[in-house]
Amino acid sequence: MTWLKQFLGSNIGLKVVMALSGLGLFGFVIAHMLGNLQVFLGADKFNAYAAMMQGNSLLWVARIGLLSMVLAHMGSAGVLVLRSNKARPVGYKKHTFLSGSYAVRTMRYGGLVLLAFIVYHLLHLTVGSAHGEFRHCMSDGDGGLQCFAFENLVKGLSNPAAAGAYIVAQLALGLHLAHGVWSLCRTLGLGNPRYDALARKAALFFGALITAGNCSIAIAILTGLVHL
Ligand code: HEM
Repeated sequence: MTWLKQFLGSNIGLKVVMALSGLGLFGFVIAHMLGNLQVFLGADKFNAYAAMMQGNSLLWVARIGLLSMVLAHMGSAGVLVLRSNKARPVGYKKHTFLSGSYAVRTMRYGGLVLLAFIVYHLLHLTVGSAHGEFRHCMSDGDGGLQCFAFENLVKGLSNPAAAGAYIVAQLALGLHLAHGVWSLCRTLGLGNPRYDALARKAALFFGALITAGNCSIAIAILTGLVHL
C-alpha cells in the first residue's frame, strides 16, 4: 500500500483524485439538473420525484458518497494550492494575466463561491432552516411519503434575493465546469492535441448547459411562469 500512499501524496496523484471526484460531482450536477427541470411538469410530478428520492433506502449511501467526493475534491485542490503557494512564497512582482492564470483564479474563488452556495442551498431546500415556509416530507399513511418540494422550491425562489443568489451561483458553476471539465479530460489522459479541441468545446458546452438549465428554473419562478 506504500505505492498508493506515495501516489496520493504526489502532485499527479492529487490531480487524479481532483479529476475523478470532479467527474463524479459533474455527474451529480447533470442528474440533479435533469431532476429539477421536472418542476416544469407541475407540482404532482415534482413532489412524486422528491418522495421517490427521499424514500429511497440508498439515500444515505448517495449522500455519504457525495460528501466524500466534495471532501476529496476540496482537499486535493487545497493541498495543491498550498504547495503551489509554497513553491513561490513571494509572488510575482507584476501580474500578466495570461488565460491560464485567469482560469486558475476563477477555479479557486469560484470553488469557494460554490461551497458557500452548497451550504446555503442545503439549509434552504433540504434542512429548511434558511426558508421561512419550509415543509418536510411526511408519511402519507399508506407506507409512502408525501413531499412538498414543489411548494418549498417555488416559495423559496419567489424571493428575489434568494433567486439572485441561485443565479449568481449557477454562473460560478458554469465557469467552474467550463474550465474543470477540460482540465479533468487532460488529467485523465485526453491531453493529446487530437482530443484537446473537442474537450475544450465539450467543457464550454456543459458549462453553458448547466448554467442555462438551472437558471431557467430560478427565472421561471421569479417571473411567475412556474407558480403555486
Ligand atoms: C437552480 C439550481 C438548483 C435547484 C432549483 C435545486 C433544487 C433542489 C431541491 C428542490 C432540493 C431538495 C430535494 C428534495 O426535497 O428531495 C435540492 C437538494 C440538493 N441540492 Fe440542489 N438545486 C439546484 C442546484 C444545485 C447545485 C448546483 C448543487 C451542487 C453543486 C446542488 C446540490 C444539492 C444537494 C447536495 C441536495 C441535497 C440532496 C439530499 O441529500 O437530499 N443543487 N436541490
